[in-house]
Amino acid sequence: MHLRPNIRAMDLGPAAMVAERSLKVIESAPVGRRYHRLLLEAPDLSARSRPGQFFHLLCRDGAGNGPYLRRPMSIWRCGAGEPLGFLFHVKGKGTAALARLRAGEALSVVGPLGQGFALDPAWRRILILARGVGLATLAPLTGAAAAMGIAADAVLSARDPADLMAEEFAGVSGASVTAVFDADGSSEVARVEALLRARFAAARPDAVFTCGSNRLFLLLQRLSAEFGIPGQVALEQQMGCGLGMCFCCVRQIRDASGAVVNLRVCAEGPVFDLQAALAW
Ligand SMILES: Cc1cc2nc3c(=O)[nH]c(=O)nc-3n(C[C@H](O)[C@H](O)[C@H](O)COP(=O)(O)OP(=O)(O)OC[C@H]3O[C@@H](n4cnc5c(N)ncnc54)[C@H](O)[C@@H]3O)c2cc1C
Ligand code: FES
Repeated sequence: MHLRPNIRAMDLGPAAMVAERSLKVIESAPVGRRYHRLLLEAPDLSARSRPGQFFHLLCRDGAGNGPYLRRPMSIWRCGAGEPLGFLFHVKGKGTAALARLRAGEALSVVGPLGQGFALDPAWRRILILARGVGLATLAPLTGAAAAMGIAADAVLSARDPADLMAEEFAGVSGASVTAVFDADGSSEVARVEALLRARFAAARPDAVFTCGSNRLFLLLQRLSAEFGIPGQVALEQQMGCGLGMCFCCVRQIRDASGAVVNLRVCAEGPVFDLQAALAW
């Protein structure tokens, strides 16, 4: 296994700044048929969290039931004066336990962890391409962009309108949202490509961002290379420690010389350069 030479096994990076915290749940509510949102009281952590970073959550319900290992979850809402928020697909026993938490109960979190998205103050417009719950990861980027005077155009892909969560994505950021669905075929890669080409021609973005789908990642990687537009992708990987120590989350990434190296999604990621990331 090739590891980036300047990373030592015990180099915790930003994780060295974090500690376990027990936070009070202030809202726990289902979103649509398959998703759930949790809002936590954490003024200090919320203020220093950045879009694209994540927390490692101990998924135990009020009765203490849930898996041993923590589960990684992107920051969906954060900022000074904002609750810390997570939006997740209720998938297995960890997320089911999270969804059983009630307001007033406590949740153990470790974070904020990882490297978030980077926004350049010189940019005027970004394009976001998200699929499914990848929109939770990309949602806070819309508010961060708005605060810097950067317009955000988003293309959101979902199974059908009931799964879209456009309101959860854009909030009050003013991001423009175009939805595509499996149900009517508008989410097919060829149709999304036509949509993006038209968008690039009408209002070329300064940067593009994606999360949540391998085929949309490959499409955006190809188009951003063709148009010479920089991009970032938030990757997912199952995690053990979440702190950079166990190396169970490595993924293959191209380094600046083009060589393929194994980097830790929890420490060097989860956000990577769009051209450096490899398909999964
Ligand atoms: C950095 C990061 C941020 C994430 N942010 C979000 C988010 O904002 N919202 C959200 O809904 N999910 C997010 N995920 C995925 C989330 O961590 C998994 O869905 C969760 O761990 C599943 O736990 P579970 O116990 O409910 O399911 P499990 O019983 O552990 O697994 C259920 C199924 O999901 C698969 N799975 C588990 N973990 C992952 C993973 N990390 N990636 C892909 N498949 C997985 C398993 O293989 C299994 O098939 C994120 C993952 C990472 C790494
Ligand atoms: S190094 Fe342990 S999960 Fe990333």
